[in-house]
Amino acid sequence: MKRIAILTSGGDAPGMNAAVRAAVRKSLSMGMEVYGIERGYEGLLDGDIKKMEWKSVGDILQRGGTMLRTARSERFMTPEGQDHAAKMLDTFGIEGLIVIGGDGSFRGSMELDKRGITVMGIPGTIDNDLGYTDYTIGFDTAVNTVLSLISNIRDTASAHERTTIIEVMGRHCGDIALHAGLAGGADVILVPEADLDINKVCRRVLRGQQSGKLHSIIIKAEGVEIDSMELAKEIEERTGREARAVVPGHIQRGGTPSGRDRILASLMATKAVELLYDDEESQAIGIVGNDIVHYDLAKALEVEREFGEDIYELAEVLS
Ligand code: F6P
Repeated sequence: MKRIAILTSGGDAPGMNAAVRAAVRKSLSMGMEVYGIERGYEGLLDGDIKKMEWKSVGDILQRGGTMLRTARSERFMTPEGQDHAAKMLDTFGIEGLIVIGGDGSFRGSMELDKRGITVMGIPGTIDNDLGYTDYTIGFDTAVNTVLSLISNIRDTASAHERTTIIEVMGRHCGDIALHAGLAGGADVILVPEADLDINKVCRRVLRGQQSGKLHSIIIKAEGVEIDSMELAKEIEERTGREARAVVPGHIQRGGTPSGRDRILASLMATKAVELLYDDEESQAIGIVGNDIVHYDLAKALEVEREFGEDIYELAEVLS
C-alpha cells in the first residue's frame, strides 16, 4: 500500500498519541503517504483529512488525549453513513486505515472492511474490555491514576476513620477496579463480573475495624448496578462507621501516558503499518503474553473477555 490514514475513535485513552506518532513515522520511514483523520468517523464523514509529516506528530508522545481528537459518531452507525465514509476514503485515494479505539470503533471498522477498505484495529481504551488482547492502550495509565487517588483517599480516610468507596470507570468491564484494587490494597473490590453481596462487604469492613484498621477502601467499578452514594449510606448504617463515596470520573482518562502504554502503543502501531504495507487483510492488533499478535478483525471481536478470577481471589486473600 502507498497511502494510508489513521483515526482515533470512541473514548480517548492515554497512549493514543504515542500510537499516532508511531504509525505516522513508521509509515513515512517505509515510503508510504499517511493522512490523519480528525474526530474519528465523524471527521471522516466530513472529509477532515490532512496529510501528516514527520513533524506533525512532534511533542505528543507524552500527552494524554489524542491530537487527532475523537468522537462517538451517530451518523457513522447508519449504512448510509458507512457508504459515505468508504467513498470519502476512496476520494482521497486511501487504501488502508488504522483505527485506534475500543469495541464500538472496531465494529465500525468491520463495516468499512465489508465495503472494501482494509482496516487495522489498535485497541485504545482505558477499559481493557477487548477479549482477544491481554491489554489495551491506556489501561495501565488509568490503573496508575486510580492508584494515586487511592493513596490520597487513604490519608483522609485514616484521619477520619472512614470507609471510602472509589467508583472507577470501565463500563461493563471490571478490570480497572480489579487491577487497581489488588495493587492498591483495597479491602473490597466490586466488579460487574461478580455478584454484589452487601452483607459480605459489611463483614469485611467490620473485620477491618475490629482488627484495628483506621480505614476501609472499597473499589467499585461503574458497571456494578448500585449507586455508590446509596451504597455508602447503607454500609455506614450497617457498620456504624462513617462512609463516603468518590467518583473520579474522567480524571482517570487523562494524564501523561505511562511508559508501558507508550511502548505498547508504539509496538502495536508499528505492527499495523507493517501489515498494511504487506497488503494483509483487516486485522486486530493485540498483545498476548509478551508478544504483539494480530487476528482477523471479525474473529477477534468474537473472543469473549475472561474475567481475572485469580486476581480477584488474590486481592481478597491479601486485603
Ligand atoms: O470506554 C471508555 C469510558 O471511559 C468508559 O470507561 C466510560 O463508561 C465511558 O467511556 C464514558 O464515556 P463518555 O466519555 O462518553 O462519558
